[in-house]
Amino acid sequence: MDTPASAPRTVVLDHPLIRARLTELRRVSTETLHFRQALHDIAQLMTYELTRDLETEPFEIETPIRKTEGARLKRPVTLVPVLRAGAGMLNGFTEILSDAAVAFIGLYRDEESLRPRPYYSNFPPTLGESDVILIDPMLATGHSGAEAAAQLKNAGATRIRFATLIAAPEGVAEFHSRHPDIPIFTASVDEGLNEKAYIVPGLGDAGDRYFGT
Ligand code: URA
Repeated sequence: MDTPASAPRTVVLDHPLIRARLTELRRVSTETLHFRQALHDIAQLMTYELTRDLETEPFEIETPIRKTEGARLKRPVTLVPVLRAGAGMLNGFTEILSDAAVAFIGLYRDEESLRPRPYYSNFPPTLGESDVILIDPMLATGHSGAEAAAQLKNAGATRIRFATLIAAPEGVAEFHSRHPDIPIFTASVDEGLNEKAYIVPGLGDAGDRYFGT
């Protein structure tokens, strides 16, 4: 996607199945097993929506009857979950994008500065030519997402889109102030952040709820 000249884009994936799964994720009584299933389902549904404008190119194939023109994705896709919570959405994405490369970014929060610090990254050699989907379920302050996107750009990625389950307006503003060229796809833009930087109403700590910790 080449959108650097256009205004920052936030796409809310408003679909009945996504709304229903998101409600299950938000509900405090949803236990780990059900939470995992709903997050998996919603990641699949989001994959359909956020890949809608991936470019394809024509190529010729032969059916059992005759030659015809088909289509294939123009570029490889690289999925990049941000550890840890991003891993909870990965299987939903790979079930649709079964030949996508998977890269990882690990960030932890420095408790003094409250800033994200990178502790791990692993990028495929195809990153620069890929359509890259950065995955982090909660866009809260926006600092982690923006740091992860900066790492991807430093490693050569040029076509990045950001998939997040729930975004806070503060996170959207911070992310787009640093990366106006990267569209955000989300199931919901919530009210805002509380004093502990949790999204309100949100769903709590996505990693804890997914991993049962
Ligand atoms: N991370 C989470 O898991 N939840 C929030 O509400 C904010 C950041």
